[in-house]
Amino acid sequence: MARQIQQLLVVGAGQMGNGIAQVAATAGLDVILNDISLAYAQKGLRNIEHNLSRLVAKGRLTDVEKQAILSRITLSDDVEDGAQVDMAIEAATEHLGIKLDIFRRLDQVVRPEAILATNTSSLPITEIAAVTGRPELVIGMHFMNPVPVMQLIEVIRGLATKDEVYETVMELSRTLGKHPVEVQDFPGFVSNRVLMPMINEAIYCVYEGVSKPEDVDAVMKMGMNHPMGPLQLADFIGLDTCLSIMEVLYEGFADSKYRPCPLLRKYVSAGWLGKKVGHGFYVYE
Ligand code: CAA
Repeated sequence: MARQIQQLLVVGAGQMGNGIAQVAATAGLDVILNDISLAYAQKGLRNIEHNLSRLVAKGRLTDVEKQAILSRITLSDDVEDGAQVDMAIEAATEHLGIKLDIFRRLDQVVRPEAILATNTSSLPITEIAAVTGRPELVIGMHFMNPVPVMQLIEVIRGLATKDEVYETVMELSRTLGKHPVEVQDFPGFVSNRVLMPMINEAIYCVYEGVSKPEDVDAVMKMGMNHPMGPLQLADFIGLDTCLSIMEVLYEGFADSKYRPCPLLRKYVSAGWLGKKVGHGFYVYE
């Protein structure tokens, strides 16, 4: 039987975390948006305000509704503020050590019945669950970027995840207006196991001189109706994130078909991480 989730702690107020907080508050949940400093949490809230104001300008939301959504979000710089929540979703940096530390801390401070979810895009749920004393209450809830726009959530069951927790997260995803799919805990899940090799192959096309970035992207946009070409999408996701996901696939399956393209490594070493730094396969003003 699915549980009712009303109070949510979101750990990490960056691109993914503030998007999750926005959709949850829009669906009527009470949200604590947490980051390591209030300044980061405030930055996340400003992004939510900006997104909601755009919806008001388009006539999709009234100003009163916008204010009501914002009033359901509380900012925090200490996860202990979420001690009484029904569920926590971690959306911090995609680094295993950082996530393990956050889960150890959440396990200590959040009430023992609460569900602990991670928005990881490729790290092992089972390993994250194992550092807590409640692995049966730990689950993956992988949102896509931009969270307010994309319909999909991958719901990833760790080895120990209880059915009740899985059903609760499926139900919560529908409450958020999303389409959840069930995925088992293997490297890259489904989304990144399919997406990242395509992006990596597009980078190989540039590396081997088969075509230039604009044209590789044009092939996939105009030839396959993708909303963004793979290199534009790689810049949008972040080339460091793309590389770390390829490493997870490469190591996790021990298969050379997931070998990260040397050009991807070179760009990451140069600090050309994509749109967030203004330079990746394209230059951003
Ligand atoms: N936040 C909120 N809304 C946003 C947004 C954002 N960051 N970016 C765009 N939007 C909204 C716009 O307001 C607009 O809304 P309306 O149609 O209601 O007016 C709509 O999205 C379309 O935006 P634009 O017209 O500005 O531009 P677009 O048509 O090119 O769409 C896009 C932008 C939705 C990002 C589209 O290009 C797209 O779907 N790109 C592919 C995105 C994708 O593949 N995401 C998955 C990435 S992989 C991932 O997330 C998993 C992982 O683990 C790495």
